[in-house]
Amino acid sequence: MEFESNLKPLVSRIDSRLDELLAPETESPELLHAAMRYSCLAPGKRLRPALVMMVAEACGGEPLRGLDFGCAIEMIHAFSLIHDDLPALDNDDLRRGRPTCHVKFGEAVAILAGDALFALAFETVAKADFEPATVVEVLKILAESVGTYGLVGGETIDILSEGSPVDEITLERIHDRKTAALIRVACEIGALVADGDRHALRLYGQDVGLAFQIADDILNETGTAESLGKAAGSDRERGKATYPALFGLDESRRKAEALVEEAVRTISTLPKPDALIQLAQFSIRRLR
Ligand code: IPE
Ligand code: IPE
Ligand code: MG
Ligand code: MG
Repeated sequence: MEFESNLKPLVSRIDSRLDELLAPETESPELLHAAMRYSCLAPGKRLRPALVMMVAEACGGEPLRGLDFGCAIEMIHAFSLIHDDLPALDNDDLRRGRPTCHVKFGEAVAILAGDALFALAFETVAKADFEPATVVEVLKILAESVGTYGLVGGETIDILSEGSPVDEITLERIHDRKTAALIRVACEIGALVADGDRHALRLYGQDVGLAFQIADDILNETGTAESLGKAAGSDRERGKATYPALFGLDESRRKAEALVEEAVRTISTLPKPDALIQLAQFSIRRLR
């Protein structure tokens, strides 16, 4: 609970900055802007932007320095959720407790809203108030984390693996790319803006990111649509490659816990590690 109350003030800063960065619904094309705002401002945890800010603080820096980069990462996350929910991918109707973007706005506008959020993310990084060398470095590591070797590559392997058995290496590759990559880069960017230990924070983000996706797999088996704000039981129905499918629930929980322990060990010597320790623990005991 302490972690959730620490998160709240960050979430309001993030949401008001996102609100400023997104085009108003009154501007043409109105439907595109409405769809972008609908998905990006919907009530999610804002874990990735919060991570950028919390990591910056844990490294002894100013959390607000991470705000715009964090918002860019949240835009990429929102894009990934819109496209992940499309009929051609997971075909889901519910997201963050609301109808998915394509259900609300139609498939064409949903695809385009995802595309525009993706572009706006990089525009936001490019316009951030930092030295050009820092901006270029962030553009580089962010693009790497989202492309073939990151989120989009992971989503591709996830979709192509549906219905066929996968081994542990493939499963870890899917989760590493589709989810851990963006969480890892959020941590690295937080370290970068605070001149902290980028390598240690990457390792922390890697472990937390993988634990987070294992927890998401577990919740898909054990949760309800009402508690999750998105479909439950759908991974099994679609024959998705998940940790519970390969290892069972108990072993999946043990693996997630071991990753969190490792993540906590990695950052324990930072100037102010407490919030990051709580966040790592939250990543596996969350309800949503
Ligand atoms: C959902 O991410 C997709 C995964 C990578 C598991 P989150 O659980 O962070 O979703 P929101 O942002 O809180 O809705
Ligand atoms: C999570 O995909 C990763 C991305 C959205 C890129 P999932 O399909 O496992 O996540 P949920 O369960 O729909 O949120
Ligand atoms: Mg998916
Ligand atoms: Mg999905």
